Amino acid sequence: MTVNDFRHLYLAELEELRSVEAQMAGNLDRLAGQATDPRLSQEIETHQAQTAGHRDRLDALLQAHGGRPDGHDDASMHAIIDESGKWVGMIADGALKDAAMIASLQRMEHYEISVLGTLAQWARMLGHDNDARVLDAILDVDRQTDARLSAIADETVNPAAL
Ligand SMILES: [Fe+2]
Repeated sequence: MTVNDFRHLYLAELEELRSVEAQMAGNLDRLAGQATDPRLSQEIETHQAQTAGHRDRLDALLQAHGGRPDGHDDASMHAIIDESGKWVGMIADGALKDAAMIASLQRMEHYEISVLGTLAQWARMLGHDNDARVLDAILDVDRQTDARLSAIADETVNPAAL
């Protein structure tokens, strides 16, 4: 599609974000059961369910704007997931693997947070108030997830891997 105004740009980026969340939900699903640390394992399960819910909420926003859930396939997220899968797969030790998994998950969360932050601001600017509320709510969940991952790494996983 040709993007020639801000509303169009917003919609294109919303389709990208939908792809990011769908890929993340699938990735968390694959990682479930692979963590050794019980808190990390629980966090992955919880965030998988949250992320699948986020994907569905984005589908509803896209529908309201006449966008398509499969309109874009975000190549950056594919690259981050592929890369992390490769090196996490090379680690045998449980705690070390957990540490690497958290590093990868936070890279993905930060990418999500960056896209969400931009889109929430654009939604407010364009007067898409419902979108802004949804995007802010997702952003809040991702920021909390990121903070909990930092705490798990700091308090248990990284000391165990050292
Ligand atoms: Fe997330």
